[in-house]
Amino acid sequence: MRGIGNRASPRPLYPQALSKAKGPAKRRHLRRNGPVRVQHPCFTPVFPRGRRMSPAGTRHIPVLGREAVEWLAAKSGGIYVDATFGAGGYSRAILETGGTRVIGIDRDRTAIAGGFDLVEGSEGRLILVEDRFSHLDEICAAQGFSAVDGVVMDVGVSSMQLDDAGRGFSFRLGGPLDMRMGHDGPTAADVIAKASETDLADIIYVFGEERRSRAVARAIVAARAQAPIATTRALADIVAKVVRSKPGDIHPATRTFQALRIFANQELDELHLALSAAERVLKPGGRLVVVSFHSLEDRIVKNFLTDRGKSAGGSRHLPEVAQAAPSFHILTRRPLAPREQEIAANPRARSAKLRAAERTSAPAHPADALPAWPRLSDVMRGG
Ligand SMILES: C[S@@+](CC[C@H](N)C(=O)[O-])C[C@H]1O[C@@H](n2cnc3c(N)ncnc32)[C@H](O)[C@@H]1O
Repeated sequence: MRGIGNRASPRPLYPQALSKAKGPAKRRHLRRNGPVRVQHPCFTPVFPRGRRMSPAGTRHIPVLGREAVEWLAAKSGGIYVDATFGAGGYSRAILETGGTRVIGIDRDRTAIAGGFDLVEGSEGRLILVEDRFSHLDEICAAQGFSAVDGVVMDVGVSSMQLDDAGRGFSFRLGGPLDMRMGHDGPTAADVIAKASETDLADIIYVFGEERRSRAVARAIVAARAQAPIATTRALADIVAKVVRSKPGDIHPATRTFQALRIFANQELDELHLALSAAERVLKPGGRLVVVSFHSLEDRIVKNFLTDRGKSAGGSRHLPEVAQAAPSFHILTRRPLAPREQEIAANPRARSAKLRAAERTSAPAHPADALPAWPRLSDVMRGG
C-alpha cells in the first residue's frame, strides 16, 4: 500500500508546515499531527464525481459534495478547512477553485495516507493533518493561520472504514470489535468488557436510540461472563437474540453498533467542540458547512446554529443584561437533503442533511458546556 508515512511510498514528503519545499528531498515519516506539504510541478484537479478508490480499494462517494462546496463559496486566495478529509472528495472540489488553500484534517491515519497523491498534486495548496477536528482552531494556528474563510465537515464514518472488516465497524462483516476511527483509545470490545450494565444500557439508549437498551445490556453482561465479546459477529448475535426485527426492518444490531461507535469515538463531544472551534477561527463572512448523517448529529448542528444565530433579545421588564450578538447568520433555514438521483447512486446518502451559516463580525460566544451523557473516560475508569 502506498501512502504518506508508509515505507513503501516512493514519493518525498515535506513535513514542515508552510516552508517552501524545494527539489528532491528525503522522505520523512509522518509524525503524529504532523502537517505534510508536497510540491509538484503540475496539478490537474479533478472532482471525481464520487469515483475514487481508497487505499483499501473501497471507494467513498462524497455525499452532497457539490452542494457542500457551493455553500462554502470558495474563492481564490481563500483558506479552507476540510475537517473530515476521508477520501478527499471535498478537498479536491475546493482545490478546483484556483488559488484556494486547504487544511485537511482526519483522525484516521489511513485516510491521511490515502491523500498522498492529492497533496503531491496540489502545488503546496493542500496540507493534511492527522488529528481530531475538535482541535481545528489550534491546528490552523499551528499552520500559521489565525483565521480562515471556510470550514466544512462531513461527519461520521467513511465507506473505507465501514467496508474494512478489520476496522470492526460493521456487523455484516466478521472482524475484531474495534470501531476506532483513529488508532488510539479504547476499542468497542474494551468498552463492552469494562462498562457496567447501567452504563451499557445508557450508552445504547442515548447514542443508539435503542428502545431495548436495557435488555441488550443485560444480554451483553450475561454473555461476557461466559467469554470475552471480541468480534463483530459475536456482538451482533447477542443483540439479535433480544432485539426483534420484521422483514424489511434494519438489522437488529444496527442501533447498538451505532451507539458503540459514537461512544468509543466520542463523536458527539467532538462535534460540539468542533462547532465552537470553527466559530473561533472563521473570519467575518467565512462559511461553516456541516453534513450530518443521523438525527443526533443534526440536532447538535441545528441547536448550535439556532443559538448562535439568535438576535440579541431580552425582556423590557427585566434589567438589561449583556447579550452576545449573533455570531452566525444562518443560510439554510431548512437543512438540504440529497436529491433522489444521489440517493439512488449512493444509498448511504439517504439520511444526509446539510446546514450552512456565515460568520458575522461578532465575537465568538463562550463554548457551551457539553451535555451530561456517558463519557468514555468515566466509563473506562469504572466511575
Ligand atoms: C464521511 S467521511 C468524509 C468523507 C469526505 N468528505 C470525502 O469526500 O471523502 C468522515 C471522515 O471524517 C473522519 N472523522 C470523523 N470524526 C472525526 C474527528 N472527530 N476528527 C477528525 N476526523 C474525523 C473519519 O475518520 C472519516 O475519514
